[in-house]
Amino acid sequence: MSGAQADFSKQQFAGSHILSVSQFDRAAIEKVFQVADKMLPYAKREKRTEVLNGAILGNLFFEPSTRTRVSFGTAFNLLGGYVRETTGMSNSALAKGESLYDTARVLSGYSDIIAMRHPDAGSVAEFAEGSRIPVINGGDGANEHPTQALLDLYTIEKEQKSQDSGIDGLHIAMIGDLKYGRTVHSLSRLLSLYKGLKFTLISPEELSMPSYICDLIEDRGHELHISNQLEGNVSADICYQTRIQEERFPSQDEANKYRGKFRLNQQIYTKHFQSKTVIMHPLPRDSRAEANELDNDLNLNPNLAIFRQTDNGVLVRMALFALTLGVEDKIEDFDRPVHWFSTKGQ
Ligand code: NCD
Repeated sequence: MSGAQADFSKQQFAGSHILSVSQFDRAAIEKVFQVADKMLPYAKREKRTEVLNGAILGNLFFEPSTRTRVSFGTAFNLLGGYVRETTGMSNSALAKGESLYDTARVLSGYSDIIAMRHPDAGSVAEFAEGSRIPVINGGDGANEHPTQALLDLYTIEKEQKSQDSGIDGLHIAMIGDLKYGRTVHSLSRLLSLYKGLKFTLISPEELSMPSYICDLIEDRGHELHISNQLEGNVSADICYQTRIQEERFPSQDEANKYRGKFRLNQQIYTKHFQSKTVIMHPLPRDSRAEANELDNDLNLNPNLAIFRQTDNGVLVRMALFALTLGVEDKIEDFDRPVHWFSTKGQ
């Protein structure tokens, strides 16, 4: 495979790596969302498909993960494929000094597509250079998390639609660790493709959004407001809360300085946001008392979209697998009934 990153503006996904949100334009995003919509009956277990029966996903997670790893695996299983998993750096030959290139050459002989997460920025792209099969970036250090950004955007579109609105003209507040949080980096870049947005970025000064992303937001004509505290009525359509990325700090003491700075609970929400503001978070939310960035008292708030995000993640990842393996128009040809009792569709 060529090491170059495909540009999906012509919507030619088959055989390509997905390494960065920079590969997507609005038409490519729409294509992914159209295919994701078609996946709902499978995710709800109304029917199943065997379109990827026989195909193997190499799911390589060299950094902690629950939902990204499992939802990649589930998405592949839901398309009828098999999943082979490697977790943890210390369990792999990378701990013996093997290069990413060699690991990729070897592992790409064992499966049809690879999803990979790694703690170093740029590592997944470096791995893809050695791979003979498509590689999907499941998060590379503080750099990017393209599939999370796509599922976040898919969720934003759905939530806005339910309020008879769209993404153009949206006001989003991003809160927390905007320096190390790769999800906000990738999501901001995707959102900047739309028109007339307002970004309110709230973080401790030391954890502010990288300047190249702020520049991109402004260069593309959006309004940008930066603050280090929650003040007044933010009047945002979306409030996107994040976790202090403690694993990327030089020390725990350093991370502890910022923990709990931007708690969100029902009372704070009522004070600063509109009653219709949608609350998002890529998860995990740090629920330890000293952080408590998204209080459990918000669980009853109908605008808490965090579990709709996680469900949407399966649909978007199914779509990305279908597109990169070139089966997006064949899914229904391999439909099968579901024989077991399922409560998923209820
Ligand atoms: C995020 C990540 O790993 O970047 N989680 C996820 O993939 N859903 C955010 C985080 O860990 O805080």
